[in-house]
Amino acid sequence: MSYQIHKLFPTYLHHIEDIPISDELLEYCLTKPDFDNNIKSNRGGKQSINTNEDSIIKDLIQKIIDENIQKVCKPELEIQGYWVNVNSRDNYNIYHSHPGAALAGVVYLQASEDSGDLVFYHPNAYSVYEESMAYKEDWNLTQHVQIQMHPKTGSCYIFPGHVMHGVEPNRTQDDRVSVSFNLIVRSSQ
Ligand SMILES: [Fe+2]
Repeated sequence: MSYQIHKLFPTYLHHIEDIPISDELLEYCLTKPDFDNNIKSNRGGKQSINTNEDSIIKDLIQKIIDENIQKVCKPELEIQGYWVNVNSRDNYNIYHSHPGAALAGVVYLQASEDSGDLVFYHPNAYSVYEESMAYKEDWNLTQHVQIQMHPKTGSCYIFPGHVMHGVEPNRTQDDRVSVSFNLIVRSSQ
């Protein structure tokens, strides 16, 4: 008799660290974009309009793609749009996804340990809890229904656009500044 456990259905979370963030870029993000009064996923704070204009922000996103995920992604992958998020103390982003994006990402231009975890949620947590009743403590998978990442300045995460996620409240006095973006696969037509 032999026995194995296989893991089914992995999901890719690309994680890049130590991206150099210049003062010029941070200043640009705080002053140049058109901040919108419409409330999106942010609760408090502000979010700029989704744009695909050439800028030093877009250059940074392109560089992150070229030097990291392009190793495993198709060359037709391109930026569909990006926007800046500025979140002050106690501001947060509710549970959301990025419809229409093959991949979505966020790069942190100013963040520290207490400025709010990025949290990813399992698409079918209810079923995992039900299944977990069959397993001993060490083997149940409920520890994986919610995955916390701890961004800091220079962190970037790229994930499937359908994966639900949110950002916990900023517990520091400093603004959390990030740029979110959507990536699509350019069609040949
Ligand atoms: Fe998001």
